[in-house]
Formats: sequence, structure tokens, C-alpha cells
Amino acid sequence: MAPRENFSSRLSVIVAMAGSAIGLGNIWRFPYLAGEQGGATFVFAYILATLFITLPLFLSEIIIGRRSRSNARDAMGVLAPKSRFWKNIGILAVLIPIIINSYYSVIGGWSLDYMIKSMTPGFFHASPGEVSRVFSDFISSPWEPIAMHLVFLGISVLVVARGVKTGIEKFSKIILPVLFVLVIVIAVYSISLPGAMAGVSYLFKPDFSKLTPETFAYAMGQSFYSLSVGMGAIITYGSYVRKEENIMVSSAWTGISDLVFALLAGLAIMPAVFAAGIEPGSGPGLIFQSVPYIFAEMGSGVPLLSAVISTLFFLAVVVAAMTSCVSLIEVGVAWLMERFNLRRSAACKWIFLVCGVLGVLCSLSFGPLNDLHIAGRTLFDFFDWASSNILLLLMGLLVVIFVGHVMKKADVRDEITNSGGFKGNFRLFGIFYFLVRWVCPVAVLVIFFFNFLG
Ligand code: PHE
Repeated sequence: MAPRENFSSRLSVIVAMAGSAIGLGNIWRFPYLAGEQGGATFVFAYILATLFITLPLFLSEIIIGRRSRSNARDAMGVLAPKSRFWKNIGILAVLIPIIINSYYSVIGGWSLDYMIKSMTPGFFHASPGEVSRVFSDFISSPWEPIAMHLVFLGISVLVVARGVKTGIEKFSKIILPVLFVLVIVIAVYSISLPGAMAGVSYLFKPDFSKLTPETFAYAMGQSFYSLSVGMGAIITYGSYVRKEENIMVSSAWTGISDLVFALLAGLAIMPAVFAAGIEPGSGPGLIFQSVPYIFAEMGSGVPLLSAVISTLFFLAVVVAAMTSCVSLIEVGVAWLMERFNLRRSAACKWIFLVCGVLGVLCSLSFGPLNDLHIAGRTLFDFFDWASSNILLLLMGLLVVIFVGHVMKKADVRDEITNSGGFKGNFRLFGIFYFLVRWVCPVAVLVIFFFNFLG
């Protein structure tokens, strides 16, 4: 078997991990969930969860990956070879990304479609009502979204087929800064629209009487989702991180940039949603209904300007989504390669096949399969809800229990301080270990418990 690949530098690690973290979760999912789950109260719970639960969990996944040097399916088994439980439970880490990837690339396809639509004359003359109609016609028409889903997934699979260094790293480095700048420009513009301030207060003025266990479950699920934890992606990337790397610093950078990015995306979308009179709880279509409106206003009278900015924006969204999709695909590919001794290209084909078919079903659930419900939800909603609100939390719980209670404390410390080389990390280790050992598992369990009882 070929030797394991490694990321080439500190910057590459951060960029690849941030590339995995920053994606549709920030731009598409965060604003629409915040809209559905009551705005600022949700945002507050999300920030809290990210700092105290998700970040330690993120670091834990890198530790498991780097120490085991294994794919996510087998990583915990490698570190606890005597336990059948830890040997087998890793299968979750391969199944979850497959589920997420299937519907993720449907939304990636929508973004691709909107990038193309942005270049079509007439797209920006529409009123907010018209923009919504264009969107619902699009998602319910069976063929167009399916074709876009398959194109999006296909390109992502091709990137993965080129390997860790050549494909994933280079790809991430170029596009993230572009996206960052664009989102800031849009946020500034969005806030300046008449009536936009209502959107800003909706996002940042919490009403604590509305804080329920359900809000926390959604916020924590979103936080896990956004940082790509609870499903093997970071374990897999962690296994490519070199021994000399200071993983505490890399994690902090990734976590903070992801959080800032989500808040910026919220600021770009929500004020415009209020300015346009769109219902904040409109669901998964929120950005596709509000962003074209923002751009139409921005370039009012100059359709070319609207077209250029909008195309650039959706291009950046597509690429950010791809760097995340790539990390989802890599989990399954790394496992298939090591377990069945497949070549990278063959493993990629399998993933394309499985996620392609499941994604087609998810896409159809906005049209012909709309009446097919599981647990009261359409297939798309069920995949999204079951993975983020149940499976990610479950896997996250297992990971923190593993690092906090199964691995030896000395080994965990060794990873964080690089066998004592990073003196500054000793004090932080104490805080980290306490969070991982006690705060994280208890918080996840409590939220899980109340959410299901309530
Ligand atoms: N974190 C990615 C996003 O925010 C999605 C993702 C989830 C990627 C899980 C990998 C693993 O879009």
C-alpha cells in the first residue's frame, strides 16, 4: 500500500481544515436555521456550544486521527485494540458523511445553478415575490436540480481523486480569501438597506425566555456540522497532520474563523431578508430567495453589476461547498482504500455512485417525492435532521468519551504539548482536558435527553 500522505505545512493544515469547516453550513444552513429557530437566542446557544463543546471536540478528533494515523472507521480501534466496541463503532464515522454528502451536494447543485442563472439576462429584474417563485419552480422541477447535483458531486469527486496534496490543498488556498471578502462586502451592503436593522436585532438581541432544549439541540447540531465534527472528517484530516504541528493553534484558528464566517453570513443574509419582507423561517431556500434580491438592489439600474457580483458570489459558494464536500468524500475514500485495498480512483467511483443515487432521491423530495415522509419529514429534511441532530451528536459524544476516559491522559497531553515541546500548551491542556472529560459529555447527554423527552 502507498505510504500515507501528509499536509505540507502549518498553513496547509489550517487551510484544509478551514476549507472543510467553512461551507454551506455557514452560508446556507446557519442563516436559515437561525431564522427558523428564533434568531438571537439560537445564535447565542450556537456561540456557546462552539466555544465550550465543539472546539474541544474538534481538537479531540485531530488527536485521534494523528495518534492512530488511520482512517476514521478504524482510528479508535487502533488506539484501543482490545475493545470490540471501539473497534466497531467507527463505522458510524463512515456512514454519517455518506448521508450528509448526499444532500449536501444537492444544495451545492442549487448554488451551481444560481451561479449560471446569475449570468442570464432578466434574472435581476425580479421582485422579491418573483425571486421566490423562480426558486420554488426550480427545486420542484425534477431534472435541473438532479443534473446540477450530479455535476457538483462529480467535480468534487474528481478533486479527491487527485489526492490530498495536489487536489485538496491547492483548491482551498485560493478561494477562501475571495469568499471572505465577498461576504463582508455583502454584509455591509445588506445592513445599509432600508428596514435592515430589524434583521440585525433579530440576530443579536436574544430573548432568553425562548431558550428551549430544542434550540440548544439545533444550535449544537449546527455547531458540530459547521466545524465538520462528529463524523470522521477531522479524524481523517488529523491523520495527515505531521507530528511537529501545534494542533491547539491550528484548531483555534479554524474554529474562530468558522464562527466569524457564520456570523458574517448571518449579517449578510438576515438584514436583507427583513428589508425584502421575506419570512425569516422560510427554510432551506432562504439564501436562494434573499441573495438575488440583494444583488438586484445593489446593481439597481446597472444589471451588469448585479450579474457580475452575483456570479462571483455563487462561484465562491460553490467552491467553498466543494472544499467541504471533498472532506466528506475523503472519509469514505480513505476507508475504502485501506480496508479493501482499492486504488484512490476506484474508491472515488464507489462514493460517487452511492452518494449520487441517495442525492437524487433527496432532490426529488422537493418535487415528485414530496409526499414520501420518514418520521414526519421529507427525505431531504430527514437526512439533514437525523444526521445533524442525532448522529453527529452521538458520534461527538463517543469521541469525547474516548479521549477523556479511554485514552491515557499522558498520551493526550503528549499530543497537545508535542511531548513537552510546546511549553505554552501545558496550562491550556488542563482546561481542555476538563472540558473534554466532563463538560462536553455531560452537555451533549443533557441536551440529547431533554430534546427527546421534550
Ligand atoms: N462543515 C461543512 C460546512 O459547514 C459541512 C461538513 C460537515 C463538512 C461535516 C464535512 C463534514 O458546510
